[in-house]
Amino acid sequence: MPKLKKNEDAIFVGSEKFIPLLTKEQIQKRVKELGKQISKDYKGKLPIIIGILNGSFIFMSDLVKNININCEIDFFKLSSYGDSKISSGDVKLIKELNADINDRHIIIVEDIVDTGLSIDFIEKLIKSYNPASISVASLLVKPDSLKYNVKINYIGFEIPDKFVIGYGLDYAQKYRNLNTIYVLSE
Ligand code: IMP
Repeated sequence: MPKLKKNEDAIFVGSEKFIPLLTKEQIQKRVKELGKQISKDYKGKLPIIIGILNGSFIFMSDLVKNININCEIDFFKLSSYGDSKISSGDVKLIKELNADINDRHIIIVEDIVDTGLSIDFIEKLIKSYNPASISVASLLVKPDSLKYNVKINYIGFEIPDKFVIGYGLDYAQKYRNLNTIYVLSE
């Protein structure tokens, strides 16, 4: 069982060292900006904001608090990476939506877009329900990892192709509760 040990600014997961990439303040500032932009873009509409569990739950929570128009929320849950740092390349739907999204404006909320497989899968699924529109908000995007042709309308930060934890993002289900985002240091 890896131990979480703080050493100055770094976090050690066993022998793997993670260093800060984005501070709490940087994240909060950017999430506020995204909320403001979404509020402006969807003025006069009633969007359904759909989070992809588990990773998006903290970003989604902070984002909706910064959206100042009426909105509804719902969630999909997808299978995760398991305990690995590398995607299995296989996506499974674990929890369906409750809302009827036919003819509704949808904003999909992700924690991170890596290869784009999950967003591609979710977008195709949502399209089959005939929504009025779809956009995607992701706190993080790894542009060098993208393998699918997906459009991310609201991007928090573009980051290098390295494994990150914190602010909803896990390593073997842990570290989601950190309010800073840490990156694996080579
Ligand atoms: P994609 O389907 O390859 O785009 O991967 C998206 C999903 O993989 C995210 O929702 C995360 O759950 C997970 N993921 C991708 N990169 C990371 C990472 O660096 N840390 C933690 N989870 C990640």
